[in-house]
Amino acid sequence: MNILVVGAGGREHTFCWKLAQSPLCDQLFAAPGNAGTTTVATNLPVSVTDFQGIKAAVLKHDIKMVVVGPEDPLVMGIHDFFKADSALQQVAVIGPEKEAAQLEGSKEYAKAFMMRHQIPTAKYQAFTAETVVQGEAFLETMEAPYVLKADGLAAGKGVLILQDLQEAKRELRKMLLEQKFGAASSKVVIEEFLDGIELSCFVLSDGKGSITLPMAKDYKRIGEGDTGLNTGGMGAVSPVPFVDAEFQKKIDETIVQPTVAGLKKDGLRFKGFIFIGLIKVGDIPKVIEYNVRMGDPETEVVLPRIKTDFVEILNAIATERLDRIQLEVDHRSATTVVAVSGGYPESYQKGFAISGLETTEEAILFHAGTIHKDGMVTTSGGRVLAVTAMGDNHQEALERSYQKLNKIHFEGINYRKDIGFDL
Ligand code: AMP
Ligand code: GLY
Repeated sequence: MNILVVGAGGREHTFCWKLAQSPLCDQLFAAPGNAGTTTVATNLPVSVTDFQGIKAAVLKHDIKMVVVGPEDPLVMGIHDFFKADSALQQVAVIGPEKEAAQLEGSKEYAKAFMMRHQIPTAKYQAFTAETVVQGEAFLETMEAPYVLKADGLAAGKGVLILQDLQEAKRELRKMLLEQKFGAASSKVVIEEFLDGIELSCFVLSDGKGSITLPMAKDYKRIGEGDTGLNTGGMGAVSPVPFVDAEFQKKIDETIVQPTVAGLKKDGLRFKGFIFIGLIKVGDIPKVIEYNVRMGDPETEVVLPRIKTDFVEILNAIATERLDRIQLEVDHRSATTVVAVSGGYPESYQKGFAISGLETTEEAILFHAGTIHKDGMVTTSGGRVLAVTAMGDNHQEALERSYQKLNKIHFEGINYRKDIGFDL
């Protein structure tokens, strides 16, 4: 079977790396891919939201499965686009249809879903420009810190956590009345602050049943000790040591099962990955957010732990046969550390040559923001590489990730030295 991976980050390189290991995968393509995906796939110069371009590539290369990495094409309806086109109806799309993608595309939609299906989450209310005064009054009834969330997609930047009530009111006005996050903040969810430690839970769903993948934890802040600005993710570990059997059971019973049952009750046949952002408040897991895709850099630690053939898994999602999959998991720890461009997540320069990319025993190199230029691999984004390693525990795995990172150079390279510090 010929397969196309849509996307260009570390997550998509990891998908390609895993798919290429399967005897069921014939030709593999990435659109647009990066320098890393070219080692196992053919890159196609098509953007992730160019549905006509993707269609042309699918027909030209006889592609039978499309694995969608990022949220934008899903929220824009790539799955529906394939379903509605008679030339594409036979192609399996891994990723939900537009309606279910609203779980990530609209915070209010996700909150209403959780309320409807009694899934534990922070208390909230949603406001628009017309109800900004009620929004301010609602803030007065809350305690600091105040959590304001742009309803729509805002590239991970749409959440504000503020200590001061007056500032929260000002920011609410900026979001609703001055389009602080563009159309994404024409509606704002104000919610209760949840205090605890975060983790990421990934669920495979075929529309009928589900399989929960190994848990992961990512490190979102740029600075050591989880300080400074939010990023796309600076590192990740899997498994998560504080998730014992009892806590896992709580996650399954109070969150995963009601989520999968809720989708079915609502008539949403979700075929893809459900990413549940969780927070452990005391001993209680609560949902911070849903995403309708895999996480990045979590994919870089979750997929290397999956021993089961990945094409078989995705085929089972497409054909509603997940119940036949026996997921085999590597019980070792996986860690990844992300090397970023100097200055990221604020402005940074691109185009620097990267050295030290040779394959080694100790680690797997997943590319994120890299391209080929003048016969060299150069930086082309904020997050440049994710260096994944395995070990008997996360300390051992991390040592290997850092050993490999020490050999990698590009101008301005930066990475956190403390991934896993809190475990
Ligand atoms: P989100 O885009 O919803 O994942 O939010 C981004 C980040 O803001 C999360 O990863 C959390 O660290 C934080 N956050 C979001 N909602 C809350 C909340 N209700 N309480 C505490 N922290 C939150
Ligand atoms: N690592 C968080 C995300 O992919 O959204």
